[in-house]
Amino acid sequence: TEQKLPVTILVPSNFHDHAVDRIERTFSPVRIERADPALVTDEVRSKVRGIASFAGISAAFMDALPNLEIIASFGVGYDSIDARHAAEHGIMVTNTPDVLTEEVADTALGLLINTIRDLPRAETWLRDGSWERNGDYPLSRLTLRGRKAGIFGMGRIGLAIARRLEAFGLPVAYHNRRRVEGLSYEHHETLKGLAEAVDTLISVAPGGASTAKAVNAEILSALGPNGVFINIGRGSTVDEEALAAALANGTIAAAGLDVFANEPNVPPALLAASNATLLPHVGSASEHTRRAMADLCVDNLVSWFTARKPLTPVPETVQV
Ligand code: DGY
Repeated sequence: TEQKLPVTILVPSNFHDHAVDRIERTFSPVRIERADPALVTDEVRSKVRGIASFAGISAAFMDALPNLEIIASFGVGYDSIDARHAAEHGIMVTNTPDVLTEEVADTALGLLINTIRDLPRAETWLRDGSWERNGDYPLSRLTLRGRKAGIFGMGRIGLAIARRLEAFGLPVAYHNRRRVEGLSYEHHETLKGLAEAVDTLISVAPGGASTAKAVNAEILSALGPNGVFINIGRGSTVDEEALAAALANGTIAAAGLDVFANEPNVPPALLAASNATLLPHVGSASEHTRRAMADLCVDNLVSWFTARKPLTPVPETVQV
């Protein structure tokens, strides 16, 4: 049990219940609809010392909170938080790595297999009575057999996906900002080089300026007509228009997407693609894992306000 601390924390109105319970027991939360300075009264603005968040936290929002010390983000990806601005202003940013790694890797493999074997549509066939009326569901055109997988973004989650792919018998290659020391998988200096070497590309790349629309028409065309693209990272890393065109033209065979550039909006051209399997950003979305993420988010706040020791600070805010 945590002792109550006289610290005001901003919490989104739709935040994880377990995190809210713990924050209520330990701090003084103020709930807000979204990270908009106009929604915070002047009195609260000067009191806020922490934010628990999964929404975008802009530089302007940080600047509106003169006593802000820490942003404890819920989730491993923090591309919607201006971490560089936070670091420049001495504001700590934490995320929730590790606790979701295996869950997201499971989702990636599930999405890959569902995309290749067309399982969601096979279930629809059963449920809508087509099996009884029309007989067996058509054979899937694609198979996992004989594929070579490429992972874009070889961090903790990329590695957990690679281990699973190995167990399925697939050779693995990767492209990452930096080559990962001590890893025997085939490394490619460029995403293009990786896409040329594989037929199954799985993106786990973080969002942000350095990866914006990295998966473009050229990369998709390099995968070839048997190509499958899976995205479990961030929608912003993909040129969605080029992807929809590649799916419609047969430039690649299929795609499985858990993330989109402008969630919860999904481009109509992707909704219309029968060779795309689409999920509503559920990579880490089990009760078990979201609770672990909630705990780590709050543990970061508690550790900061009791001992000035963030448990999982993001790289930008760690002094090197
Ligand atoms: C993450 O942890 O970054 C997931 O995308 C959930 O937000």
